Amino acid sequence: MTTQEKLNHCYQSVKEKLDGFVPRVALILGSGLGALADEIDAVKTIDYSEIEGFPQSTVQGHKGRFVFGKIDDVPVVIMQGRVHFYEGYSMQDTVLPVRLMRKIGAEILFLTNAAGGISFGAGEFMLITDHISTFIESPLIGANLDEFGVRFPDMSEIYNKELNAIIRATAESSNIKLNEGVYVQTTGPNFESPAEVKMLRTLGADAVGMSTACEAMVANHAGMKVCGISCVANLAAGLSNNPLTHAEVMEASDAAAPVFKKLIKGAIAAMK
Ligand code: HPA
Repeated sequence: MTTQEKLNHCYQSVKEKLDGFVPRVALILGSGLGALADEIDAVKTIDYSEIEGFPQSTVQGHKGRFVFGKIDDVPVVIMQGRVHFYEGYSMQDTVLPVRLMRKIGAEILFLTNAAGGISFGAGEFMLITDHISTFIESPLIGANLDEFGVRFPDMSEIYNKELNAIIRATAESSNIKLNEGVYVQTTGPNFESPAEVKMLRTLGADAVGMSTACEAMVANHAGMKVCGISCVANLAAGLSNNPLTHAEVMEASDAAAPVFKKLIKGAIAAMK
């Protein structure tokens, strides 16, 4: 099946379950944030396993379903668990969920993740103002999906300035400290070596992770407004003396989750 055929197939399967619900914001929840989806007024949930051909999320701490509902008055579709390239999916399959959410009507993509801090420490938040995707393959390689966008899309403002202003204002009014910086995506699943982290810092990265940039690129290609926030779960390799573990990442994101959830919900409520 081509990417387009697979997408059409998933779209038909989801659309017939939706009873006409049209989301405005698509929210992807990173490690440790899944509980947010359980706290909204859900009108519908669809497990990824119910969607034929849809990539299944296999990572511990990622649930694997779409939750449809409202945050304040804003209709949302939430991915409770994302699909990562390192799980072995093609880059096209990794970003299929984003295109699917676009196809069912979402105009805004709100990305969240747990990341390694290069400029910031564990527990801090970083508004993503730009990214470096040079270390992954472009998700736009292959036949262009004309339905979404052009062959050679501009990437000069991937993260939308108006949405960033809303997020900044929300953080300020809620007294939440919000840093800003550049996110770099690596393939994972291994964490970086200290030398790689030094290199990434030299290249201008402030936080490093294994998702997000590829999703932001296809959304931007498809004309969505994109914004993203990283929750720094640990200092990147070599910046502290501790070896890195997934358990540590989960622990730090769990600890930051209550404040992170408040920031995300507040910002989405302001995206009416
Ligand atoms: N590196 C890459 N991805 C991550 C990290 C990290 O240190 N922490 C959480 N996700």
